[in-house]
Amino acid sequence: MKCTRCKATAIIDLPSHNSAFCPECFIKFFEKQVQKGIDQHKLIEKGEKVLAALSGGKDSLALLLVLSRLGYDVTGLHIDLGIGTSSEKARAVCERFCKKHGVPLIVKEMEKEGLAIPKVKERLNRPICSACGKIKRYYFNQTARELGFDALATGHNLDDEIARLTSNTLRWDRAYLSDQGPILPDDEGFRKKIKPLWRVTEYETAHYAFLMDIENHYAPCPYSTGATFSVLKSVWTDLELAMPGRKIDFYQGFLERGKPAFTVEEEKKGKELRPCPNCGYPTSSGDICGVCRIKLAVSGQ
Ligand code: AMP
Ligand code: FES
Ligand code: ZN
Repeated sequence: MKCTRCKATAIIDLPSHNSAFCPECFIKFFEKQVQKGIDQHKLIEKGEKVLAALSGGKDSLALLLVLSRLGYDVTGLHIDLGIGTSSEKARAVCERFCKKHGVPLIVKEMEKEGLAIPKVKERLNRPICSACGKIKRYYFNQTARELGFDALATGHNLDDEIARLTSNTLRWDRAYLSDQGPILPDDEGFRKKIKPLWRVTEYETAHYAFLMDIENHYAPCPYSTGATFSVLKSVWTDLELAMPGRKIDFYQGFLERGKPAFTVEEEKKGKELRPCPNCGYPTSSGDICGVCRIKLAVSGQ
């Protein structure tokens, strides 16, 4: 198998792009795909300050590296969830990575906020992952706001996005369908949220991470019950194998033709947001925000 660009020996075959690449050409191809994804939906402009949320997994580390190599002004943000050695390892991976690549890193410690996840889990009578997700999103946005970042970027890739889109479609969840996409613009106290890896698959990102020597010592959260959307992801693997290119066509088709059909109606319904009387975070609850409620529950008041 020969590289489509330079005719050297190819190490990766990408039927969805009718191409095969050698290592150097694949790195160029991957970074061009990310740039194309950024330009297509105007995610960020050069000069804007981007905060990249780093879990310690290869996707978010690849995100930080590719943004930095494409010339964007990027800083890492790691939320230390306080889950014993699992969190210690994830944090150490982020610290080593940012040091190696000369990128600044901000670490928010949930222990210090009274929100160490094991403590929250003990006190809350509902699945920890949804509370944990809420806490992470809260600190993503608060940190971006407080420190003057223009955008908050996460490492979601094309496989994450189509699995979520399929899940939303199976439930015909119009509100979620009207919101899904690579960009959620700045809105009433929420910083712009972007997913610059939306055009690249998990497989492509794993190859990029391997070729760029990205550390792979990350262990999944001990409370996780398995990969999110694992059934939908495996259905999509079969579909893509039978019909190369389906994933990106389906997702782009949704953004161009599907999403606008849901947006018109849903936009009119806009929920009213007010600042939380306790911490100032925008909330539609009519009372204190969700994270302040979790803090109250954890402190036993
Ligand atoms: P997940 O929901 O675990 O697949 O994570 C999705 C994205 O959220 C990752 O690609 C990261 O950008 C971000 N993320 C997840 N966990 C953390 C964390 N502890 N600190 C900072 N960012 C995170
Ligand atoms: Fe949040 Fe596991 S409960 S990462
Ligand atoms: Zn609050």
